[in-house]
Amino acid sequence: MSPRDAALELDAASALRGRRDHFRLPPGTIYLDGNSLGALPHGVAERLAHVVTEEWGRGLIASWNTAGWIDLPRRVGDRVAALLDLPEGTVWVSDSTSVSLFKTMVAACRLRPGRDVIVLERATFPTDGYIAASVARMLDLELRWAESDRVEEYLDDRVALVCLTHVDFRTGAMFDVDRVTARAHEVGALMLWDLCHTAGAVPVDLVTAGADFAVGCSYKYLNAGPGSPAFMYAAREHHAHLDQPLSGWMSHARPFDMELGYEPVEGVGRLASGTPPILALSALDAALDAFEGVDPGDLRAASLSLTDLFIRLVEERLPGVFEVLTPREHARRGSQVSLRHPEAYAIVSALIARGVVGDFRTPDVARFGFAPLYLTHADVYDAVDHLVGVMEGREHDRPEHAVRRAVT
Ligand SMILES: Cc1ncc(COP(=O)(O)O)c(C=O)c1O
Repeated sequence: MSPRDAALELDAASALRGRRDHFRLPPGTIYLDGNSLGALPHGVAERLAHVVTEEWGRGLIASWNTAGWIDLPRRVGDRVAALLDLPEGTVWVSDSTSVSLFKTMVAACRLRPGRDVIVLERATFPTDGYIAASVARMLDLELRWAESDRVEEYLDDRVALVCLTHVDFRTGAMFDVDRVTARAHEVGALMLWDLCHTAGAVPVDLVTAGADFAVGCSYKYLNAGPGSPAFMYAAREHHAHLDQPLSGWMSHARPFDMELGYEPVEGVGRLASGTPPILALSALDAALDAFEGVDPGDLRAASLSLTDLFIRLVEERLPGVFEVLTPREHARRGSQVSLRHPEAYAIVSALIARGVVGDFRTPDVARFGFAPLYLTHADVYDAVDHLVGVMEGREHDRPEHAVRRAVT
C-alpha cells in the first residue's frame, strides 16, 4: 500500500471522518494554521446574517429580550464549559483574551492579600507577560519569571498567582495541569491557565486538577472568527469573593436599576463589564455547532494521530533537515508541530505559495497547527509532500520569499 493510501485508510477509520464537511475550506488549500485563526464553519455566516437582518434589523432593541441577547455571554459560556468539561455557570464569554487575562489576574491576586508575587514562564505568550506586568504595577506586586521546565522551583509562600499557558504557542509543548496546579496550591497560590492553544483541540480536566481560573480565545480551534471573544473560567468556590477590576454595569446585581452604588451580581456574571459583543458571540455560538456530538477523546486521538504522522513523515522524508521542537511524548504535546530551520520564514512562504498554510514565529520556527475537526491524514501526507518539494526545489531560496523575510 502506498503511504498516501495508508493515510486515506487512517481517515476512513477516524471517528471524526466527515467532520470537515462542517467547514467551508477553500479548494486547493491545506490549512495548517487553525492554531492561529480557525477555519469558517458552515452556519456562521447564515447566523450572522440572521442576527443582523432579523434580530437587529427588525427586532431592534426588543431583541435584547426577544432574541435572548442579554443572556448570550452566559449561554455561550455554558456551551464552552460543556466542551471543556467544566460545570455549568462557571464560564463567561465577553472580552478579548488580553482583557480577560487582566480581569482574572487582578481578581485572583485580590483573593490572596498579603502575597506579592505573580509567577509566569519566560516562554509565555507576550500579552500574558505584558498584562501581568501592568497588574503587578497596579497592585504593587512583583513578577517572577520561571523557566518552563522548572516552574515548581519558583514557587513559595510569597506567590499569589501562577499564570501559565497550557500549550506553548511556539513549540506546542504542554504542561502537566494536575501536577503544576497541585504544586501551586501547596504553597497557597492560585492557578490561572491560558487555554488559547487548548480549547477545541486538547481535552483538559480543570475541575479534577482544582484550577482556579482559566482564559482562552475562541478564534483558534473554536473557529469563531477574527477577534472573537475569549472565555473566562472561575471555579465556583471563588465566585462569592470575586473582585475584578472592570466592574461595569453588566456585572451589577440590578443593571437596569441604574443605581449609583455598585453591587456585584452573584455567580460568574461578576466577571462581566459592559454591553456584550452580540455579533461576535453569535458567531461563536454558531461555530460551536461543529463540535456537537464530538467525543473529546476522539478529538485528542485524531490530533495525536495527525501530529504523529506529520513528525514521522518529516523525519523519514527530510532526515536531519529540521529540528522538531515539539515534544514526542503525547502527554507533553498540544495540537501543533513546530520545526526549527534557519530559513523557516522563506520555507513557510514557499509553502503558502503552494496552498499549504502554516505560519512563522520569530526567529526560526515554522509552525503547523492540526485542527482535528477539519484536517485529514491525507492532508498531512500532501503537506509533507509539498514541504519535500519546497526543500528539494529550493523554492525557499527564491528572492520573493527572501525579500518578504527581510521586511518582517
Ligand atoms: C497563548 C495566547 N494568549 C493570548 C493570545 C492573544 O490574546 P488576544 O486574543 O487578546 O489578542 C494568544 C494569541 O495568539 C495566545 O496564543
